[in-house]
Amino acid sequence: MRTMDHHLECIGCRSRYPSTETAYACKSCGDLLQVSYNYDDLRESVNASLWKSRPLSVWRYEELLPLDEGSVRVSLGEGGTTLHRSARLGKLLELNDLHVKNEGENPTGSFKDRGMTLGVSKAVEIGAKKVACASTGNTSASLAAYAAKAGLESIVVIPHGKIALGKLAQAIAHGARVLQIEGNFDDALKAVLRLAQSNTNLYLLNSVNPYRIEGQKTLAYEIWDQLERKVPETLIVPVGNAGNISAIWKGFQDLSQLGLVSRLPRMIGVQAQGASPITQAFRRGQCEIRPVPNPETIATAIRIGSPASWKKALRAVKGSGGLMETVTDEEILHAQKLLARLEGIFVEPASASSIAGLKKLVEAGAIEKHENVVCVTTGHGLKDPEIVQRMFEKPITVKTDQRSLEKALGLNH
Ligand code: F0G
Repeated sequence: MRTMDHHLECIGCRSRYPSTETAYACKSCGDLLQVSYNYDDLRESVNASLWKSRPLSVWRYEELLPLDEGSVRVSLGEGGTTLHRSARLGKLLELNDLHVKNEGENPTGSFKDRGMTLGVSKAVEIGAKKVACASTGNTSASLAAYAAKAGLESIVVIPHGKIALGKLAQAIAHGARVLQIEGNFDDALKAVLRLAQSNTNLYLLNSVNPYRIEGQKTLAYEIWDQLERKVPETLIVPVGNAGNISAIWKGFQDLSQLGLVSRLPRMIGVQAQGASPITQAFRRGQCEIRPVPNPETIATAIRIGSPASWKKALRAVKGSGGLMETVTDEEILHAQKLLARLEGIFVEPASASSIAGLKKLVEAGAIEKHENVVCVTTGHGLKDPEIVQRMFEKPITVKTDQRSLEKALGLNH
């Protein structure tokens, strides 16, 4: 793609910035930015039938990704995740047409890799030497891996208290400089944003960076491709900082703008009950969120009280005729177990919130039997094995002899 084919635009006051500008917020009103295209030109240059000849991956859709043609792509083989037809879980919930898009299959085990391949490629393109993010874990794991691949220094700021062990191990293994602060994720994001604004050689790769969202939007394209170029009726996704739901919605809107689809899915976002400012605003019918000062949930990845992209998320949900839902920690753990045991898909707790939300909405009659539903699961279960050790059944200790084994297993001859 050429630099003149796109620009940055404020989602509030619509101020425009050239695509070459590094910015994480509008300079006039402080609102979020997005990458905007001239769709008339894109309709001319995009040949969607060509995509089928390329492997299913983020880069299959290179014409819709804002990276200069000559730039290096920093890739670890992201995207191309399976859309699992989930008949056993579907049967339990009495749904005829349920799929799970398992983003845990990405190189570092989460959907963040879709955004990071583009974001880190952009960092290289603009000549940045250091990349940084605040993270509840997965963004830092992904940033560290892609920075390593590109030969860039990575800095990650994580909240106090627990972050899942697997994610921390990834960031450390890939050589990131890990700073744990005294505050929560929201404080970490504010701190790193200030750092990036005053140190211009530090490229920020949280989802306030509009280029990361562009990589993540490919999740929508893949689902459309995998459903034989149809969009689902309903899409359910966990929501934390709200970048992903915004990105997926943007992806579906691209398809519509390009005339590739004639309708759009209903977007449903699911938050953990103790960290649900967007759902609360949605329920109140308000256009502004009230941040939750001390968010709490077992799903540490989405323990976020002041989501940066709340406005984009509310627009996605309202614009699609969708809704926001909350789930309790108990419901999350139950859903994690159901998915692992009925479908063979092991996801981390935050991921399971989409399944928990699905179950709750089916039971409430908000999702119907015949509906074509896709649930996105966002991160691999091995990211957070401690939760399973702590919350699931414990192994049984037995003697080694056959009788003891048979007794423990209740085997009768
Ligand atoms: N699921 C997982 C596994 C996550 O790691 C995250 C976010 C989300 C869902 C929510 O996505 O923020 O785009 O709404 N994790 C971020 C991180 C915050 O730092 O890894 P979102």
